Amino acid sequence: MTINTKFTETFGVEHPVVQGGMQWVGRAELVAAVANAGALGFITALTQPTPADLANEIAKCRDLTDKPFGVNLTILPTINPPPYDEYRQVIVDAGIKIVETAGSNPAPHLPMFHDNGIKVLHKCTSVRHAVKAQSLGVDGISIDGFECAGHPGEDDIPGLVLIPAAATKIEIPMIASGGFADGRGLVAALALGADGINMGSRFMCTVESAIHQNVKEAIVAGSELDTEMIFRPLRNTARVASNAVSREVVEILNRGGQFEDVKDLVAGSRGVKVYEVGDLDAGIWSVGTAMGLINDIPTCADLVARIVADAEEIITGRLSGMLESEQEENVA
Ligand SMILES: Cc1cc2nc3c(=O)[nH]c(=O)nc-3n(C[C@H](O)[C@H](O)[C@H](O)COP(=O)(O)O)c2cc1C
Repeated sequence: MTINTKFTETFGVEHPVVQGGMQWVGRAELVAAVANAGALGFITALTQPTPADLANEIAKCRDLTDKPFGVNLTILPTINPPPYDEYRQVIVDAGIKIVETAGSNPAPHLPMFHDNGIKVLHKCTSVRHAVKAQSLGVDGISIDGFECAGHPGEDDIPGLVLIPAAATKIEIPMIASGGFADGRGLVAALALGADGINMGSRFMCTVESAIHQNVKEAIVAGSELDTEMIFRPLRNTARVASNAVSREVVEILNRGGQFEDVKDLVAGSRGVKVYEVGDLDAGIWSVGTAMGLINDIPTCADLVARIVADAEEIITGRLSGMLESEQEENVA
């Protein structure tokens, strides 16, 4: 049995499961493993230092899978912005057919992607941004709740409200994101009106995720309580693992410190060391509250198969077993 939704139909994937863009983590090995498992993975464009490196990473991924995969383009306000146009050109030239946009308004990028037959899945953290993106003509929405790793926005609305609130207003395919890790989550997302799920933290903790084993073991050992929200006072909140560095950042900013005061602590060059050498206190690293639901390090194939099988069992077993027809009630 498979679970068919508006999302699987529109985006041409077998299962309604997505691996969203992940800085330093969304590389070819993981994305290909996700694709081979029948789900949709995204290479993270800006993890590659140059547009030429992105072209190589896409080629590497193609060597590892003949299934569809996409590229995530995260557009964040930075002092020295990366050459977004050049990354976008590489995506088009490489023949990629699905892009995940995130971080800000996708409008400047849509004409070029659509002119080249590329479907755009836009990730955002509020109903108003989802509605706006739909009106701009994106092909799908990924609605990311307060539970998520990375940037949850500033509204603090968890998925239980955010997903159905968005589903009421979104007609195009919509996937739910933030806090999903298993079959129960997939069924819940479908029940709330979504057409599938997006997961970051869960896919980060798989065999094929090319990060240090210490990080994966820390995720397995960690609970839903072990994250920090940094940059809250700067209104650029990011949910990251709780460690010596993130706790110091929270403390400095809560005392009235400015970005300059934490700039060195949050440097990407420090964060990437966590993943590369496995020193969990080397810098900032992203993970979400879904950590409390992650208890193993499976292959992507096993993970996706398990999520889909568990979801089917919950729908056809546990949930349908709760239904009683009126006739049966009368007899009883
Ligand atoms: C290590 C890590 C890095 C991330 N980096 C990005 C990124 O660069 N761009 C982006 O759009 N989302 C990023 N995210 C967010 C994920 O794509 C996804 O939306 C989020 O992880 C969903 O929440 P979950 O972790 O509870 O599944 C990142 C998540 C993680 C865990």
